[in-house]
Amino acid sequence: MPMNDQHLTYSPFDPEITEDPYPVYRELRHHAPAYWSAQANTWVLSRYDDVSAALVDPTRYSSASGIFPTPPGVDMTQLFLPMLIMTDPPRHTALRKIVSKAFTPRRIAELKSHVHAIVEDLLSHSADSSRWDFVSEFSGPLPAIVIADMLGVPREDRDRFRSWSTTLIQSNPTRGEFGPGLDAAAALYDYFSAFLAERRAHPQDDLMSALVQAEADGEHLSEEELLGFCLLLLVAGHETTTNLLSNSAVVLSENPESRRLLTDRPELVPGAVEELLRYDSPVQGLSRTLIQPVDLHGQRMMAGDTVLLLFGSANRDEDAFPDADRFDIHRAPERQVAFGRGIHFCLGAALARLEARIALQTLLASRRDWEVDLDSAVRLRSGPIRGYISLPIEHACAPAQAE
Ligand code: HEM
Repeated sequence: MPMNDQHLTYSPFDPEITEDPYPVYRELRHHAPAYWSAQANTWVLSRYDDVSAALVDPTRYSSASGIFPTPPGVDMTQLFLPMLIMTDPPRHTALRKIVSKAFTPRRIAELKSHVHAIVEDLLSHSADSSRWDFVSEFSGPLPAIVIADMLGVPREDRDRFRSWSTTLIQSNPTRGEFGPGLDAAAALYDYFSAFLAERRAHPQDDLMSALVQAEADGEHLSEEELLGFCLLLLVAGHETTTNLLSNSAVVLSENPESRRLLTDRPELVPGAVEELLRYDSPVQGLSRTLIQPVDLHGQRMMAGDTVLLLFGSANRDEDAFPDADRFDIHRAPERQVAFGRGIHFCLGAALARLEARIALQTLLASRRDWEVDLDSAVRLRSGPIRGYISLPIEHACAPAQAE
């Protein structure tokens, strides 16, 4: 039985901790850096150096048995088709090489004016209201529309596609809510299957056609891997980006001086996005399963044990980021691990950064001052993701004209 600090209790499923996990993270880093959570049946690593070391060590820390912290008895690998994010080398190396060919920096850079147009359009819907819901009207739809357009989903299918993806993302398997999410996943697989056949016959200039055509060293994606990858883009690219934006709206509202500076000097926004990723990371933690025993901080973690890597805590580690609990848009936190590290480093990081920069610059230009109504906000209850289901936002005065 693993030994623990008697005063500490931590589980990623505890709703009270979800509200503000940072004080508990500090306790974990200082007093139990290799902590056994009996409630969640997992080891928890919270220090920057330990999380980083585990991320670059897939030979001991495997992703193949799933990466979401799940309550005992829930097997996430049964829920999804084979996914890049849940594979280890050598298959991961081959898959990543293939999908990277379709997910190129050029393809992302070309999306700039398109993302701009989507952001302007979404913000125009709430232009006349002094109170609106940031999640349902802005941070939620933006990534879903961007991914749908990237894949090449026709405009007329967009609403159906969005409702499936929202259902999938909001049903939370980490709480055992499978039903609606599984139905939505099945509908999406069917949809993507038919869509894939169409793109095989008639390739276009979109990501789906590029994926169908992408091959590396004589290898290509199987039908299942291709469908799994499309679904992964939705799951990995949707709620993460949504909550980066939602958390940013809250942090900037709580730091009006920084917000004013960013409004006056939009060129500082890219640096601020890095600090927002560090300060309130949308993905708080993901899991690995040990292939070999690991000894750490006087504890022996056994082969087969799961280990939760707390990115949200690593990014607040005072040893890596001096004065880590202070939000500072000038910090330039190049080492932040909000996108992970190593072989699974977020494939969509450039896209997420692009969306966040354009969204925040446009928002700041058009709505200089806002306040979030945290009393009415609804927090997302999810093991890995930190953010909101609903976030009412108010403007003290009439919105200024966008530049
Ligand atoms: C702020 C937004 C985002 C955050 C915080 C984020 C975070 C992450 C993290 C932490 C990982 C590493 C997983 C691991 O180590 O197990 C990851 C992987 C991944 N992300 Fe993101 N992500 C974001 C946006 C996106 C977007 C927009 C896309 C694509 C549309 C995307 C696609 C992926 C994919 C495909 C992987 C798997 C890479 C692999 O296994 O090789 N992500 N992301």
